[in-house]
Amino acid sequence: MKTAFLSFLIPLLVPVQACLTRDEIRGGHIVDLTKGINRRQTDGNVGTIPVATGDRFQNGDKAPRGIGSQAATVLGTFNSVLNTNEIKSAIKGLEKEFRVGYFETPYKTFENRTMFGAKVGGTGKSNNGYRVLLETGIHARERGGPDHLIYFISDLLWANREKKGLNYGGVSYTYKDVQTALGMGIVVLPLVNPDGVAFDQTTNSCWRKNRNPASAISGDPHSIGIDLNRNFAPVWNFTKYLAPGIEAASTNASTETFYGTGPLSEPETKNVDWTMDRFPNLGWFMDQHSPATLVLYGWCHDSNQARDPTQNFGNMAYDGKRGVVPDEPSKGTAYKEYLDQKDWDILSLTAARIAGGMSDSTGRFYPALQAPHLYPSSGCSADHGYMKAMLDPSKKKIYGFGVEFGEWNEDAECGFYPTVEAHGKNMVENGVAYMELLLNAARLS
Ligand SMILES: *[C@@H]1O[C@H](CO)[C@@H](O)[C@H](O)[C@H]1NC(C)=O
Ligand SMILES: *[C@@H]1O[C@H](CO)[C@@H](O)[C@H](O)[C@H]1NC(C)=O
Ligand SMILES: *[C@@H]1O[C@H](CO)[C@@H](O)[C@H](O)[C@H]1NC(C)=O
Ligand SMILES: [Zn+2]
Repeated sequence: MKTAFLSFLIPLLVPVQACLTRDEIRGGHIVDLTKGINRRQTDGNVGTIPVATGDRFQNGDKAPRGIGSQAATVLGTFNSVLNTNEIKSAIKGLEKEFRVGYFETPYKTFENRTMFGAKVGGTGKSNNGYRVLLETGIHARERGGPDHLIYFISDLLWANREKKGLNYGGVSYTYKDVQTALGMGIVVLPLVNPDGVAFDQTTNSCWRKNRNPASAISGDPHSIGIDLNRNFAPVWNFTKYLAPGIEAASTNASTETFYGTGPLSEPETKNVDWTMDRFPNLGWFMDQHSPATLVLYGWCHDSNQARDPTQNFGNMAYDGKRGVVPDEPSKGTAYKEYLDQKDWDILSLTAARIAGGMSDSTGRFYPALQAPHLYPSSGCSADHGYMKAMLDPSKKKIYGFGVEFGEWNEDAECGFYPTVEAHGKNMVENGVAYMELLLNAARLS
């Protein structure tokens, strides 16, 4: 396999691929939970940004204010990660100050948490006026994602009220850009995996999945939870759709990529799907992850082609052939997933602009690529809304993107936990990622 070949050549240069380490792709874990969650693991993460205690938004009384609307010198003051209560309190604060539309989604998590979101900007009052869905916090340990989204939205609302532009490092936006971005109508889901994030924040255990024990094996704490970004509908059953040996997800509950018991088996993914249906004019979607310094677009499970519409995920003749990148024609796996040429152009152009903007903001280089060129995955969030429209033409196509912000923290046991400095840099880049998505969506819609 390609990964094995690469790991032979460059064993140390690429310790992480997207939001999995290479060892995790093969079933390993960063932290050995069978030894208990103890001080050693916490000590191993010394020097990483702490999780905040308390509530800086005073139970929704105070609105957050982002970095794009303040002098660059405030960067270092973002020196703790929002805890799960604060993420909600921040949204409540924005509701109070800017009248964003707070809402809750219907499916409660295993630990009985309610997922929430906000409707921001847009035209008119109905749900029809929202065209962009932004989600984050789906992989629990990828710290900073919810912070960056909350502070970006806060920037946008503040700048709009004050009739000002925004600055993120080397990239500036005008007041008119701010109005255009808000005019798209933005739905935000800042904490898709509330149980997982709460667990990770209280244990520092580098936890990725949700906390549903339905498939857990007694005595193995790693077998709790489902990888929510393998639980969406597109080619969920990878053992059927993809070629044998392509580990686009895992059927083994003890691994980090366990796919669950069916497409959308989890309340968290059901809530995202519900949100897509609730706002019928959504056409754009972005999911923030870390830390591979990349911008990705679908299809997630195989390379794209625009020539042969019969090579598509619904054609059973190709079951068992998908997911091999590069194709191995001699083994009968010459397959690429069909994508309408215009849609492919929109996806690749927008991804390139997001990546270019992020690179311009801090000077750190972000490439944009088709997700399977990294590794193929099944049940991914980015393809979900697009596939829904292919299966039901009454629905609007949703163009999906995944951002992998930041870099692996070499000094931490959990390399997904950034330092304070890295957190600030990531926040600047993500501000641009959001703005570029919104402005491109406005131009191309
Ligand atoms: C499931 O994954 C765990 C962790 O990698 C491994 O120890 C176990 O043998 C696997 N089980 C099966 C049935 O493959
Ligand atoms: C969730 O709530 C239900 C109904 O109140 C209760 O039976 C269940 O034990 C709760 N689960 C957890 C994990 O707290
Ligand atoms: C996945 O597909 C295979 C092959 O069609 C089938 O045998 C299996 O039952 C399916 N798995 C699930 C969980 O539906
Ligand atoms: Zn991730």
